[in-house]
Amino acid sequence: MSESISHLDIPGPKSRELLARRQEFVARGVSSTMNVFAAKADGAIIEDVDGNRYIDFAGGIGVMNIGHARPEVTNAIAEQAARFTHTCFSVMMYEPYVALAERIVKLAPGDFAKKALFLNSGAEAVENAVKIARYATGRPAIITFDNGYHGRTLMTMTMTAKVKPYKYRFGPYATEVYRAPFPYPYRMNMTPQDASAYCIQELERMFVGEVAPDQVAAIVVEPVQGEGGFMVAPPGFLRALKAICEKHDILFVADEIQSGFCRTGQMFAVEHDQVAPDLMIIAKSMGAGMPISGVVGRADIMDAPPPGTLGGTYSGNPVACAAALAVLDLYEQEDLAARSREVGRVVIERFVKLQEKYSLVGDVRGLGGMVAMELVKDRRTKEPDSQTASDILTAAHKRGLALIKAGMYDNVLRVLVPLCVTDEQLQHGLDIFEDAFTSVAEAAIATTSSVG
Ligand SMILES: Cc1ncc(COP(=O)(O)O)c(C=O)c1O
Repeated sequence: MSESISHLDIPGPKSRELLARRQEFVARGVSSTMNVFAAKADGAIIEDVDGNRYIDFAGGIGVMNIGHARPEVTNAIAEQAARFTHTCFSVMMYEPYVALAERIVKLAPGDFAKKALFLNSGAEAVENAVKIARYATGRPAIITFDNGYHGRTLMTMTMTAKVKPYKYRFGPYATEVYRAPFPYPYRMNMTPQDASAYCIQELERMFVGEVAPDQVAAIVVEPVQGEGGFMVAPPGFLRALKAICEKHDILFVADEIQSGFCRTGQMFAVEHDQVAPDLMIIAKSMGAGMPISGVVGRADIMDAPPPGTLGGTYSGNPVACAAALAVLDLYEQEDLAARSREVGRVVIERFVKLQEKYSLVGDVRGLGGMVAMELVKDRRTKEPDSQTASDILTAAHKRGLALIKAGMYDNVLRVLVPLCVTDEQLQHGLDIFEDAFTSVAEAAIATTSSVG
């Protein structure tokens, strides 16, 4: 990448024209962070319909860990599509589904017999994990966590914590979902260890005050909370949860949809805490954009629901399975887990420098290449600053960086850059980030001092 940092013409004329059509024909409930339209992409770069190029720090919300348009994947897709695109695995089976199940079973943590099942979306996989857990245990209740995100269907929306925009006016919700606190050391004003101990204690209290443990089928946890704002489970927290699960015969279910597939510097984030989940939910960077998700876990649990109770018309589509098989090869061949650790180190270093300079940056956190900064109006009160976060996004987009937010208060800037990003592209992306950040932060400081 040799492009210098300069303002792009966005939205350009072709994007503007498409935007008008989109506004006329596409439901407004589907929002888009950027107001441009993609034309093509390659590795960590996306080009819009007007020829503007962006370094992709969003990765289609954590889907493109291997990068865009990798020939290994596009060839696998084309070859499978030319053979056949659909028979429905529930009607006539095909090898890519079985091969992928075999691969995922071997990849998932846990030295025990495992089985897998494939679905289309993350939310659908969460729904299926809940079905399987309930059937296997004969218990109704599910425990999820504060700040958690699990999807937009009825059950997953119920399991999701944040009210607006995900839940507001979409109720009534499903029953038998209970929410426990998740360690958020920054906002709890605690060390990670203390926050972890507090949350475990609160969970034990819930078993007295809210739901009997023998009624709980599963605890569903994101090892690193994604949409909630990249809160990392402190070391030992997942292990402590697993111990509680074992004590009460509750299933430990890890939602690795955003944290999985090398994003955090391990193939799966639970590996940092040496935990083998009973069930693990996977999606996003498994298929590099092809709609595929899955549940993998202990064979006895996966086999509890009888034939005919799980599946769906498109679930485990052969083209998506072929893509996922090629994607998994790349993680291994290119050791993208190690690359993720390196990317994370570089991003954290640059973010911490901004934190040292600007009180706007309340917290910098992450695990491997899953990194974020949380913006606040005041370091002491920690009042969230979502407006400045939005302004920085817009400034970044105009300078050629695809960037997205997260967070319960919409005030977290997160990085989900494809792990195939070159060192040069990464530094260039961070230069753009810094330029966008500084321009907005300095303008805010100037306004405050002129008012004061
Ligand atoms: C942790 C987690 N679970 C579930 C989901 C829902 O996945 P999908 O949008 O594919 O339904 C997401 C999506 O962001 C996620 O990050």
